[in-house]
Amino acid sequence: MKDCRKAVIAGNWKMNKTPAETTALINEMKPLVADAKCDVVLCVPFIDIAAAVEAAKDSNIKIGAENVHFKESGAFTGEISAKMLVEAGVEYVVVGHSERRQYFGETDQTVNLRTLAAIKEGLTAIVCVGETLEQRELGYTETLLKYQTKMALTNVAKEDLDKIIIAYEPVWAIGTGVTATADQADEGNGFVREAIAEVYGKEVAETVTIQYGGSMNAKNADELVAKENVDGGLIGGASLKAEDFSIIVKAASK
Ligand code: PGA
Repeated sequence: MKDCRKAVIAGNWKMNKTPAETTALINEMKPLVADAKCDVVLCVPFIDIAAAVEAAKDSNIKIGAENVHFKESGAFTGEISAKMLVEAGVEYVVVGHSERRQYFGETDQTVNLRTLAAIKEGLTAIVCVGETLEQRELGYTETLLKYQTKMALTNVAKEDLDKIIIAYEPVWAIGTGVTATADQADEGNGFVREAIAEVYGKEVAETVTIQYGGSMNAKNADELVAKENVDGGLIGGASLKAEDFSIIVKAASK
């Protein structure tokens, strides 16, 4: 982490927790993260948003969604627009998570469209990029991360970069218990920052928050966020446990 950037710890609950469980978990987390010096975000299933916004009221926890559609409205059964999210009290949204890319046909083009739709309504987009193990072993990590980053940011204006967070999440490290080493995380995040610099210039690239994600937990968070290019994390499994999540928030608050 560098002082010129905002550290952000965001939980990604994935398909976990009912609305009642959401209320209980946020109530448990609130006092544990109250003195955080980083931004604290919980990205929750759509159905949990109302409960999450209510439970997080008067606290430093901000609420995010896990996806957003790219059209403002229309015949898109099952989808949710950015306007709907904003009205519901959402401030952040995860875009292009590898599980969406892998299981739900998300492409670099749709990731870009969703990103544009999110920031147009004033949401902060947490855009996920990351290589598979096969791509890493073939030596394509840098090329792929730069490509995914640039594709996701197509037509995003320089002035809007303050509404963009990129999460580098190596696919092989997500939910597997295998974490990238701190050096691998720093290197991946560095490739993302270089890609942003190549398009927008070095100065603004230095200000963009780039998270690491993939089995980040209470034990390894300290070492990961100590790296220059790691400005916080996108946390899956460990964000479902109040105590573990708060330890990660503390690591990013130093
Ligand atoms: P994990 O998930 O922390 O459970 O590996 C991270 C993510 O998918 O964002």
